[in-house]
Amino acid sequence: MDAGGQYCHLIARKVRELGISAEVRASDTPAAEFAGARGIIISGGPSSVYESGSPTIDPAILRLPGVAVLGICYGQQLMAYVEHGIVEQGEKGEYGFAQICVSETPTDLLEGLPVSQQVWMSHRDKVSQVPGGYSVLASTPTCAIAAMANPSTRHYAVQFHPEVVHTKHGREILSNFLFRIAECEKDWNPTGLIEQLEEQIRRTAAGRNVFFFVSGGVDSTVAYTLCLRALGPERVWGAYVDTGLMREGETEFVGDLFRKLGATHFHVEDARAEFLGALSEAAEPEKKRHIIGQQFVDVQQRVLQSERFLEGAWILGQGTIYPDTIESGGTAKADLIKTHHNRVPAIQKLIDENRIIEPLTQFYKDEVRAVGKQLGLPAEFLDRHPFPGPGLAIRCLCATESGVPLQTEDGWVLPVKSVGVQGDSRSYRNVLVVSEGDQQTATSIVNRRGDVNRAMSVVGSHAPVAEMIATPALLTTERLDRLRRADAIARQLSHESGFDAQIWQFPVVLIPLGVEGRPDSIVLRPIQSVDGMTADAVTIPSELLERMVAQLKQVEGLCAIFCDLTNKPPGTIEWE
Ligand code: XMP
Repeated sequence: MDAGGQYCHLIARKVRELGISAEVRASDTPAAEFAGARGIIISGGPSSVYESGSPTIDPAILRLPGVAVLGICYGQQLMAYVEHGIVEQGEKGEYGFAQICVSETPTDLLEGLPVSQQVWMSHRDKVSQVPGGYSVLASTPTCAIAAMANPSTRHYAVQFHPEVVHTKHGREILSNFLFRIAECEKDWNPTGLIEQLEEQIRRTAAGRNVFFFVSGGVDSTVAYTLCLRALGPERVWGAYVDTGLMREGETEFVGDLFRKLGATHFHVEDARAEFLGALSEAAEPEKKRHIIGQQFVDVQQRVLQSERFLEGAWILGQGTIYPDTIESGGTAKADLIKTHHNRVPAIQKLIDENRIIEPLTQFYKDEVRAVGKQLGLPAEFLDRHPFPGPGLAIRCLCATESGVPLQTEDGWVLPVKSVGVQGDSRSYRNVLVVSEGDQQTATSIVNRRGDVNRAMSVVGSHAPVAEMIATPALLTTERLDRLRRADAIARQLSHESGFDAQIWQFPVVLIPLGVEGRPDSIVLRPIQSVDGMTADAVTIPSELLERMVAQLKQVEGLCAIFCDLTNKPPGTIEWE
């Protein structure tokens, strides 16, 4: 049950990894809708049980016969509150690693685990008195009730997060809940469902043909491949829009991949001139995104009309995956391009007529990858990092005014702005260059100062920062080519060294800052993340960085190479 926490989907994924089917439901789902469930897990969330409008549960959930319940973080507080324990409001809270000490009589939830173990905490409020019938299972020096249980009703709760990797024995704790307490039996294996999915596709298509807009991303390609297998190449059509904002070699890569998959009706729609024309005067991040969305709408509408796809013999295939189908406070990322896709009037018409096929709606990304692997898609494709729909446009920063760096006690404040996430909203602020320091220091400097949302360090340059200037610059082919080259160098070297397999994503960003003849610079932004909601900046191994910088400095027009040191929050993964 989703109580608004960013880790809610992670919990469901971890449960499925243990072989048990799990679905995410809204926290206020009535108890009657849980018929047949063996266990319910209530997720964490940022609220306080005392705030009006904070997520709550139907108390009847705690009286469902035969259903075990596990509350996590806010879920524990909610259980305590509903069962008449006491929740204490915290001022500062506790964020990060903690060591729990398991009580002398461990229950089945913590059975078989060390008495002292590392967990990960992220909470403000905490339970200060357990409800009647419950006992304390574990505590930390600052959190007396780190876990509690009423074994007779099979109600368990933990203040820490067993679903995150920083909780050392989190997987065993979830496993204990599922197998020992809820007595689940393994029933989930996505790759075992392929035949069933194909049968479902044939039933839904009911003699009609399917067309896709493919992006070269994992989801749409796996969905397309399933349809290809289920219906044969004559009945499946794919269109790929070349926006001119793709990475080096991307359009050729996607074309090759689809040929290898056996696609006979695969079409590349060349929309480069339209996209770049429409973007030629846009400098502002939101403006750029809006124009790109609108261009997608126009091109898709054109393709749909040109090929008679709107007639009855065709339905639309989409690579929608499970998190996209669930509306939940803050967990599903609202993705601009997808929103725009949904708004294409022709597509809306198809949806209204139920002429749509989405074979992957029950799966998470990792499961889609497993299905793709089983279908024979190459690993080098399935392991690709995520790439944003608006493409390189949001990694090619523009400016309408000139400016110079300003020296401060923490370093140089650059006349370059990027997007960040501070508090609950997005910020658009200048970037700070620090002379030394790690990610932790950089992130705390950003948090302390109000005027920047990102900090980075210089790792190679043709000129000192003091001599650099920002010049007006837009999305020209020249600048996009410069970025494409730099991105291709960073990608190739990190692939060859195996670095790309250790990280989640590696944006390479072009900023309009440099010296005469070398007007742009590059920012390297490798990050580690679970789902893109939060991220840690990663240090590039020194040998790899040296090689990368040496090659990047040779690129025409590039002045300096920076490494972004900012975690998310306060920075976002992308710069726009
Ligand atoms: P941020 O920059 O918000 O990015 O920290 C989080 C994740 O989302 C990706 N991203 C997008 N993906 N369309 C997409 O398909 C978009 O408009 C978009 N914006 C950001 C980003 O690459 C990162 O993985």
